[in-house]
Amino acid sequence: MSSLRTRVVTPIVALDVPDVASARALVSQLGTHCDFYKVGLELYAAEGPAIVTWLRAQGKRVFVDLKLHDIPNTVRGAARSVSRHGASLLTVHAGGGVAMVQAAVEGAREDGADCEIIAVTLLTSLDAPTVARTWGRDALDITAEVVRLAGIARDGGAAGVVCSGHELAALGEAYGSTLGYLVPGLRLAGGAAHDQQRVMTPVAAAAAGATWLILGRAVTAAADPAAVMAEVQASVTAGSV
Ligand code: C5P
Repeated sequence: MSSLRTRVVTPIVALDVPDVASARALVSQLGTHCDFYKVGLELYAAEGPAIVTWLRAQGKRVFVDLKLHDIPNTVRGAARSVSRHGASLLTVHAGGGVAMVQAAVEGAREDGADCEIIAVTLLTSLDAPTVARTWGRDALDITAEVVRLAGIARDGGAAGVVCSGHELAALGEAYGSTLGYLVPGLRLAGGAAHDQQRVMTPVAAAAAGATWLILGRAVTAAADPAAVMAEVQASVTAGSV
């Protein structure tokens, strides 16, 4: 993979909050320290596309994390609708197949929109026995499955995949810079892991090849979220920690 200094690494804060009031409070607290937010299922289900419109009006970029998985025609329409509200990134499941990923990419680009599609390979909540049982397979290797599913994402024209920091090396070896890598599960050195099992620091993930860094409670549950975000920005930019 290319060195950290030659790649742009973009931190994104997850707005894992139940309503627009809580979202406004967090966005106001972070101020200029964050210009890219993730809206997930909880907030999108509560507030709908209005939350994307509001973030755009604040000058923020928006990642809409809906993890779409349906027939290609339905996903194309959903991607078109999400991109029209000004989202920059949208997630779909690679398991929907190449045609579905391709339909999402096409829908997200209609009307000149520039929303990019990111594919989920395997949810990190799944372990090997669960995946094997779900898909009627014998024993399987999670990393190999993630790499295989990332191939579906690439063939469908996705801009990147969601992955754990620990899968970056294998994905980078297989796909290099033809895919971008969006990494959650990040914690500052010495910070609480919460319910995440395998965490990594932002700078380690950036150095290992991450393109987008998803920061949740490491920032949002901090006593001073803006200070933590400033530290993350500085360390990722400098590649120093
Ligand atoms: O607070 P925390 O850093 O654990 O939040 C991480 C964010 O990234 C949450 O929005 C979570 O849903 C999301 N995420 C994750 N693991 C994945 C995919 C998404 O933690 N594999």
